[in-house]
Amino acid sequence: MKLGVLCSGGDSPGMNAAIRGAVLRGVDVHGFEMVGFMDGWRGFHEDDWIQLDRLAVRGLSPLGGVILGTSRVAPFTGRRGDEIDLTEFRERFASYGLDGLLLIGGNGTQNVAGMLSEAGIPVIGLPKTIDNDLAGTDYTFGFDTAVSIAAEAIDRLRTTGESHRRCMVLEVMGRDAGWIALHAGMAGGAQVMLLPEYPETLEQVCDWVTSVRDRGRSSLVVVAEGFRLVGVDRAVTREGLDGFGRPRLGGIAEVLAPLIEEVAGVETRATVLGHVQRGGSPTAFDRVLAARTGTAAADAALNGEWGALAALRGDRIEMVPFAEITDRLKEVPEERYAAARLNFG
Ligand code: F6P
Repeated sequence: MKLGVLCSGGDSPGMNAAIRGAVLRGVDVHGFEMVGFMDGWRGFHEDDWIQLDRLAVRGLSPLGGVILGTSRVAPFTGRRGDEIDLTEFRERFASYGLDGLLLIGGNGTQNVAGMLSEAGIPVIGLPKTIDNDLAGTDYTFGFDTAVSIAAEAIDRLRTTGESHRRCMVLEVMGRDAGWIALHAGMAGGAQVMLLPEYPETLEQVCDWVTSVRDRGRSSLVVVAEGFRLVGVDRAVTREGLDGFGRPRLGGIAEVLAPLIEEVAGVETRATVLGHVQRGGSPTAFDRVLAARTGTAAADAALNGEWGALAALRGDRIEMVPFAEITDRLKEVPEERYAAARLNFG
C-alpha cells in the first residue's frame, strides 16, 4: 500500500510526532510505502513530495512546527472557489500511485477530507489545532502546548501586574471557540475569561475588574481573539485576510485595555501572545496524543477504515466517520462557561 501524508491549515505542536507515529507503524510494521507532500495542497498540486521512512522521522517527537510544512492553500477550484475539481484530483492521486491519504488538519481540512471521502477518495483525518475546536474528538494535539504557554504568560503577567496594581489583559488565540482562554485562564487563576461564544458588555467586564480592585488585588483578564463586546457588531480585525479569505482576527486586547482603564478607572496594559503559543516544542501530552493518533491512522489504513477521523474519545483513539463531524464546531459548552463565570471578579 502507498500512503500520502499532507498537512493543511495553521501548524500545531505535535504534527511531527503524528507523522513519526504514522510512519513507524505504517512503514516499519505494515510495510507501506509513504510519501509526504510539501506545504500542504501546494505540494500535491505541484508534485513536490519527500519519501517518508524511519530515517526521515528520526528525532521528530520533540520538534515543533512540521517538517513537511503546511499552508492554507485549499484544493479548491471551480467558479465559486469552494468546489474540488475531482477529475484533476483523481488524476493527481492516480499519478502518485496512492492508495490513500492521511490528512493532518483542523476544521477546514477535515471538511475537505469529508468531501473527498464522499467522492470515494480513501482519506483518513488526523485532528490537529491549538484551538481544540474540532468536533468529534475530546482533544486535538497542540492545544495542551498552547494552554501551557498561555498559562505561563498569565503567571508572568500576574507578578508585574500586582507590582503596579494594574489590570493586565492577555489576548490568546481562538477565532471561533475559547478553549485556550478558558483552560489557560483556569490554570492561571484569571479573574475574567472572555470567549468568542459568549459576548459580554463592557460594563460587566469593568464590574469584574473593579470588584477585584476593591478587594485590593490586580485583575488578570484573558480574552480570546474572537471575543466580541455586546453592542459591537463585529469581532475586532487586523488588516488583511487569512488563507481562507476571512478577515484576520486579533487586536481585541488593545481595544479592551483603554476601555477598561477609562470606565473602571484602573490602569490597564494589553499583551497579545500571538504565534508564541503555536511555536516550539510540544508538551509530553501532545507528543503522546499525536503519536497515538498517527499510529491509529496507519492501522486504520491497513484495515480499510477510510472516511473517518482518528479521534480521542476518553482514553481511546477511535475512528469517527467524517459525516459525524463535518461543518460542526466544538464550542465551549454553556455549563463550562457558567461554572467559570461564577468565579469571575
Ligand atoms: O487555527 C489556529 C489559529 O492559530 C487560530 O487560533 C488563529 O486565528 C489562526 O490560526 C491564525 O492564523 P495565521 O497563523 O494564519 O495568522
